[in-house]
Amino acid sequence: MVSTLTVPDRTMGVQRHTVRERYTPGMNESEACPPTTFTRTMRRVRQTRDYRADSVPEDVLRDILDVARWTGSVSNTQPWSFIVVTDSETKRQMAEAAPYTAHIGIAPVVVCVAREVKGTEIDNFDEGRLAERVMIAAEAHGLSSGLARAREEAQPIVGRLLGVPDGMVLRTMVSLGYATEEGAKPKSPRGEARRSLDSFIRHERYG
Ligand SMILES: Cc1cc2nc3c(=O)[nH]c(=O)nc-3n(C[C@H](O)[C@H](O)[C@H](O)COP(=O)(O)O)c2cc1C
Repeated sequence: MVSTLTVPDRTMGVQRHTVRERYTPGMNESEACPPTTFTRTMRRVRQTRDYRADSVPEDVLRDILDVARWTGSVSNTQPWSFIVVTDSETKRQMAEAAPYTAHIGIAPVVVCVAREVKGTEIDNFDEGRLAERVMIAAEAHGLSSGLARAREEAQPIVGRLLGVPDGMVLRTMVSLGYATEEGAKPKSPRGEARRSLDSFIRHERYG
């Protein structure tokens, strides 16, 4: 069965399209998922700091990194490389160098973003987009993830550890893995992790 969704069309008014029509040509029906299945997956993306030792399959990791590859960047500069770290000792030293990043020492895989330094504030914005995409793609594969940010004083240390060349900086690290039971537990009572939707939304003007 093909689900339908309502897609506003600027020239013809509101039309109903099948989900399949909205997805990439060549994708077969079993691959298409209803939009709300996808948005539910996105809402499930939370910060995880406790992982099982199970490794992440190579094809899963490549699919996640391929999603990262498609992240937009200012003028399409794509000013980054992804360093995949699985070595326990390296992860331990990274976690030691950067405060509040203990989870990268525990996760089986850490995706680190090495980025050109020369950019502007907008590059930070793009880097955030990239990190979030990694987390969403991981969630879609049933993995959990955790964002870690090396503060300014820790950046040269983690950069050196991973052989990041001059002219590039390593700030963002995303841990990936399968959450332990403890790591998967909600961190706050149901309904309290975020403000209500209506408290975020304003129409046309702030006030
Ligand atoms: C820019 C940024 C940097 C972050 N850095 C860290 C970090 O270094 N270590 C960490 O454990 N969590 C880090 N976090 C994760 C936040 O703590 C997390 O997103 C927040 O607590 C919400 O968690 P939840 O999505 O599970 O509710 C960072 C988040 C952002 C947006």
